[in-house]
Amino acid sequence: MYLILLLFPILSSSAWALTKEELGERLFSDVRFSRPFYKLASDVNTQDENILKASNSCLSCHQVDAKFNAQTRTGMRLYSDFLPQSQIPYRKLDKQKFTARNTPGLVGIGSPWNQNRFSHWDGEFFDHNETVLGNFTGRNMGWLTHEKDIALKNILTVLKNDNGISDLGEEFGGSYYEAFKSLGLDLLTTSDDVILAKVIDFVSAYMDDLDFEKDENGLYQGSPYDQFLIVNNLPRAPLPNESTMAYSHRLRVALVNLKKPKFVASRFFNTHDKEFGFGQKAFDGMQVFFNASPSGSTSRGSCFFCHNAPLFSDQLFHNIGTTQIEYDQVHGEGSFAKLTIPSLSERQHTYLNQRPNKKNPQAVDLGMWNHFGRTGKEELTTYVKSFLCGRSNPCVTDTILGYTVANFKTPTLRNLNHSDPYFHHGKAKSLKETLKHYVTASELRKQNKLVNGDPRLKNMHLSNQDLENLEAFLMSLNEEYE
Ligand code: HEC
Ligand code: HEC
Repeated sequence: MYLILLLFPILSSSAWALTKEELGERLFSDVRFSRPFYKLASDVNTQDENILKASNSCLSCHQVDAKFNAQTRTGMRLYSDFLPQSQIPYRKLDKQKFTARNTPGLVGIGSPWNQNRFSHWDGEFFDHNETVLGNFTGRNMGWLTHEKDIALKNILTVLKNDNGISDLGEEFGGSYYEAFKSLGLDLLTTSDDVILAKVIDFVSAYMDDLDFEKDENGLYQGSPYDQFLIVNNLPRAPLPNESTMAYSHRLRVALVNLKKPKFVASRFFNTHDKEFGFGQKAFDGMQVFFNASPSGSTSRGSCFFCHNAPLFSDQLFHNIGTTQIEYDQVHGEGSFAKLTIPSLSERQHTYLNQRPNKKNPQAVDLGMWNHFGRTGKEELTTYVKSFLCGRSNPCVTDTILGYTVANFKTPTLRNLNHSDPYFHHGKAKSLKETLKHYVTASELRKQNKLVNGDPRLKNMHLSNQDLENLEAFLMSLNEEYE
């Protein structure tokens, strides 16, 4: 701090040194990088309420406590919103009003167990930097594909002309000139490319900080589930060089051998207005989740194969039937199976990533299929091949494309009480609905009626009691995220 003040004595009194993460948070929250602001405002420092209201930032969809009501203790979010699909700035050219998919929560993307950085439900982006750039210049902020350069120029204009007189400026280091200067960057003499690279770097750093509550050893501790692991001496995280899958198997064995579990009493969670604990029901649910039910029981969730502990995601892509079931609900049972899906050579510029509707049978969401094998998506293609090649010999892109149909990235299952609705389509309103989905999907898979359905779905056996117990288990993964 002293050093910085000595180096930059010209800083005004309102300025102080920020961290990268803090400046990232400010950029994440500033609505002036959106297309509506660019279009409506003639002065980047305008305080016009209507203009600011019409404009949006990352925070508009990735919300935290913006709508939290301290009295009712409701409205808290996990960097997601409340809608199945989020509102986007209207443009005449495409007339879209909503995002194609449900906004996922962002907490956990900075987790050490977030093993790869492919993001979006369909793996569109290869790392956080690409995601941040794609979002700042993309449709979610109101920009059309051909407007990327205008979007970037607008970022520079806002940064260079900002006078710091705003709530964000007051909270985060004064004007952008002062805020960047406190991190050693002079906005007026640095090249535009370097400034933009730093913007991306700071927002990525901010996102890398988004993780669930950890103790001093970096192990999760915030949920009743984590407390249950602690009091029963169960392994809490992968060992160095152990994969999350190997760890999940190790935890499973420890669970099978746990004869007298100690439970965690329910306690009140302020931001949820609810009590959560880890009792008999959660324990039974955990056994179903990890295929560790006592001998004689047929209950098997097979959940842990994809939802690897401790983050409850394997960072891979799977088809669990969400697309097919959604499509058939609109067009009738068996419709999805009859849909002609383009081969690699036929696909060309076709993207199939829309919510189904009665008028257009081609509106369908094939998830990761959209990006696999495309020019510019080499990292994704190589990564996906590394786990799907086992299904095809020889491993050729054309054949593997068929195995990517309706694949989506496995989301974390932590703190789900703050991120409803669920699934990439956002059509599952409650956990009960997500669990019922698995009963339907595994039934279809057993009858070989699920196009490209994940083989793991075949091994699920879930009674109504199991669903109740699984829900109790998932509830034990909630925590106070603030
Ligand atoms: C209009 C709403 C909206 C805005 C604004 C928005 N996002 Fe998103 N975000 C989404 C949706 C919807 C998805 C899922 C997209 C998909 O999978 O197709 C998403 C996905 C993401 C993901 C991927 C998360 C994961 O685990 O895969 C990241 C990271 C992200 N957004 C960051 C940002 C940043 C940074 C900004 C601001 C520059 C931003 N978003 C602005 C709606 C929004
Ligand atoms: C084959 C891999 C796989 C298995 C097995 C699996 N899941 Fe999932 N799970 C996924 C994927 C992929 C998604 C996202 C799918 C989508 O949105 O289309 C998901 C989504 C979810 C969601 C919604 C989360 C959110 O934020 O939207 C819940 C809840 C869930 N799974 C619970 C379970 C439970 C409980 C089990 C066991 C009964 C289970 N899963 C088994 C892969 C799997």
